[in-house]
This record gives sequence, structure tokens and C-alpha cells, in this order.
Amino acid sequence: MNLTSRISNFEFENPLMNASGVWCKEAEQLDELKRSQAGTFVTKSATPQQREGNPSPRYVEVPLGSINSMGLPNKGFDFYLDYSLRYQNENPEKINFLSIAGMCADDNLEMLKKIDSSDFKGITELNLSCPNVPGKPQVGYDFEATEKILSQVYEFFQKPMGVKLPPYFDFAHFDQMAAILNKFPLQYVNCINSVGNGLYIDTDSESVVIKPKDGFGGIGGAYVKPTALANVRAFYTRLDSQIAVIGCGGVENGRDVFEHLLCGAQMVQIGTQLAKEGPQIFDRVLSELQTIMKEKGYNSIDDFRGKLKSI
Ligand code: DHB
Repeated sequence: MNLTSRISNFEFENPLMNASGVWCKEAEQLDELKRSQAGTFVTKSATPQQREGNPSPRYVEVPLGSINSMGLPNKGFDFYLDYSLRYQNENPEKINFLSIAGMCADDNLEMLKKIDSSDFKGITELNLSCPNVPGKPQVGYDFEATEKILSQVYEFFQKPMGVKLPPYFDFAHFDQMAAILNKFPLQYVNCINSVGNGLYIDTDSESVVIKPKDGFGGIGGAYVKPTALANVRAFYTRLDSQIAVIGCGGVENGRDVFEHLLCGAQMVQIGTQLAKEGPQIFDRVLSELQTIMKEKGYNSIDDFRGKLKSI
């Protein structure tokens, strides 16, 4: 069975990978992803300098998913660039995604200049949608700021790049954001980041469950699958065909992956459920996906990718 997926000129053995933030902050975690069945991996969103992030508890599993307000804890940009350079040197036929999330536009430009002048051959992900740094709005909800940063980036940046978007909930916003993204030579857009600033509460203790921002945090897991699929579909149908879509949100099993692919995703990421099960989840989900494809008589993902039917 052919499970290959592509972003730009890169081909991956299968469409599965981690969602940035999950299992990808420490070298040991990235090593485990490398050894797993995932088609590739993405590193924790980096800032120019290392950060401790928000106070704990800051990630909690809840019945239908997770809530988090990590606050960008990471080992600093140089660590993830070095890790990625080592990976490509040790595995010349493979590449990974390198995620960056500056605290301001200048941070992002500084990191992108370093990537541009490095030997990095993989794909950069510019995260425009971190909801968890107090006082910092999500860039992806400010359409002018999104267009401005992309204009500044493409004045110099020559390497493959995609953007991680927040979820949108309105057709006018799908239309406006897609029109902006179509102006740039992006390789992909990643839909979606967590649904920002939800509030999960514990009825027994009558309190919030995470400490930062008085309990408000990004929601992931089953709660967000319909929103994720809607965003994948909305951007797949609006973006120029050379811009791929990566699907992220609510993936727990092979059926969820199949649905993201049907909506048009090239790669499909797993976050909350990866945090729960660990990297062996990729074996299970891949075999579930293959079972569904076999039942339906599909030999390759390209047989059904994007072909969601109307009624
Ligand atoms: C964090 C959360 C995100 O959703 C994101 O895109 C980047 C960082 C965080 O809290 O660390």
C-alpha cells in the first residue's frame, strides 16, 4: 500500500507526524520520534533564547482532550536548528520541520535569517498562532500583521516555509486569510493550532485546572476535530494548488486521519493523543488507516485525498 505524501518537493513515507509542542522539546523526545513510525517530525516552537514557560500545572488531560498554557518553554532556537542539521546529516534522504514562534516580528526575522544562511534543507514552520503568552495576541487573528510579517519574510527568505494558523470560524475570515496567503510562495499552511483560550473547570473543587492565565488555555483533542476539519477543508478549497495543507486537530485513530486526508490534508499531525500514548501511537494509527483504505479498496492516499463528497 502506498502511503506517501508530499509537501513541495519533499516526499514522506507516510502522512503522520507529531503536532508541534508535543513530544518534541527535549533531544530524547525528538530521538524517539525519529525512531517511531511517523513519516517525519516537527520541533517545539522556538524563540531566539531558551524559555522556562508558564508556571505549572500548565498541561492537563481532560475527558475529551486537553487544555494547555505552556507559554513557549523551549531550549532556544540554536538547539533546534543544530538538532535538525544533525538529523539531515545522519539521514541524507530525510528532513524534518523546524518550528519558530518569536515573541515579536523581529524575533521571527532574526531566526529566519539564521535559517536562510544555514545549511538547513528541511521545512521551516512559522507559527502565527500561539495563544499562551500573556499580553501577546495571536498574529493569525490580525490579518494586516500577518500580511506584513510575510511581506518582510519574503524580502529575503529563500527556503521552504509554511505557516501554522489558528482556527477560524467565519467564511469571511477563511476568504480573507486565504487571499493573503495566496500572495506568497508558501509551501503549506497548517490547520489548526489549539482552539485558544478555552476554560475547563473542575466542578468538585470549583476551580480552574491550569495555573497560567487563571485557567484559560488552548484546547486540543476530540473537542476540536470538527473545527480542524472545517479549517483544512476551507483552506484546501481556497488556496492555490501549490500550497499544501497540513491537518492537525482531534486525531486519535486511523479514521480521524482518513477524514483529514479526505478534507485535503497532505500531512496529518497528532498532539493530545500522542502526549497520552507516546510515539508508539504511530504504529497503531498507521495500521488503522491501512485497514480503512483496504476496506474501501484504496491503494494510495492520492486515490481519495481531498475528494470529500457533497450531498
Ligand atoms: C505554545 C502553545 C501553542 O499552541 C503554540 O502554537 C506555541 C506554543 C505554548 O504554550 O508553549
